[in-house]
Amino acid sequence: MSKSKDYILGVNQTELERLEFQHKVWKKYTDEFLDKTGVKSAWKCLDVGSGPGFVSIDIRNKIGDKGELTVVEPSEFYLDYFKDHCNKVKWNNIKFINQNFEDAEIEKNYYDLIFLRWVIDFVSEPEDYLIKLIGSMKTGGIIAIQDYVYENISVYPKGGPADNLADSVRDYWISGGGDPYYAVKIPAVFRRCNVELIDLTPVVRAGGPESDIYQWADKFMSVHINQMYEKKVITKKQCDDISNDWNSRKKNPDSVFITPMILNVMGRKL
Ligand SMILES: C[S@@+](CC[C@H](N)C(=O)[O-])C[C@H]1O[C@@H](n2cnc3c(N)ncnc32)[C@H](O)[C@@H]1O
Repeated sequence: MSKSKDYILGVNQTELERLEFQHKVWKKYTDEFLDKTGVKSAWKCLDVGSGPGFVSIDIRNKIGDKGELTVVEPSEFYLDYFKDHCNKVKWNNIKFINQNFEDAEIEKNYYDLIFLRWVIDFVSEPEDYLIKLIGSMKTGGIIAIQDYVYENISVYPKGGPADNLADSVRDYWISGGGDPYYAVKIPAVFRRCNVELIDLTPVVRAGGPESDIYQWADKFMSVHINQMYEKKVITKKQCDDISNDWNSRKKNPDSVFITPMILNVMGRKL
């Protein structure tokens, strides 16, 4: 059995809707990254930590009826959401695995493409996880990972309790057993495992209170700041102070939110 703790951000309808909104906000950047992999008709693909399947849909659209897609997702609730979609559109070349990836039986030397977005930073033994992922790729196969390097996140102008937001969010990730910097450690594992690094590109976005990206941050804050308190990552006073400061900055049209860095990491198995 995996040593992974329960997934820190939780499994419920509110979180599903947040993930859906998040997908829309970041879709352009994920699409560009997916295009760079060269994924096309008939590829065998693996989407790990697929959640409700928003990226899985995009991958399935690219591989068509002749391809194969395996999705691995421990939450039955998220997986069922994607299964319903597949049934509606009559896709029958999808294999659903309802487990943590660490525990799943996965074909070795098989996949043309492995894709992971916002997963590896949450798991407890990311290096073992990555080595297992690489083992399931065929020679010449591509692995493409998008995840945080938890720097940059900030709201301007500075001056208030929300200045230290990044520290609280990083502690939140760590309390769930994750590593908010794991994405930047992936190239070292690639080198040891005979995977050629073919892309390493940071993505950061910024916007004012009316922008989708500010609203993305707001949706996270409106739920997760309280969960940070419930999980004892921050005190009640910190929770109230950060929330009040965040809410007042939202009303200031001159506020600018800068996202944490997302690192696109892509490799080819030699
Ligand atoms: C932030 S969501 C991202 C979902 C999806 N990849 C996306 O980009 O919309 C993280 C997902 O990883 C899943 N997850 C957490 N731990 C996992 C593990 N050990 N193996 C596979 N999936 C995991 C969670 O259940 C959740 O659905």
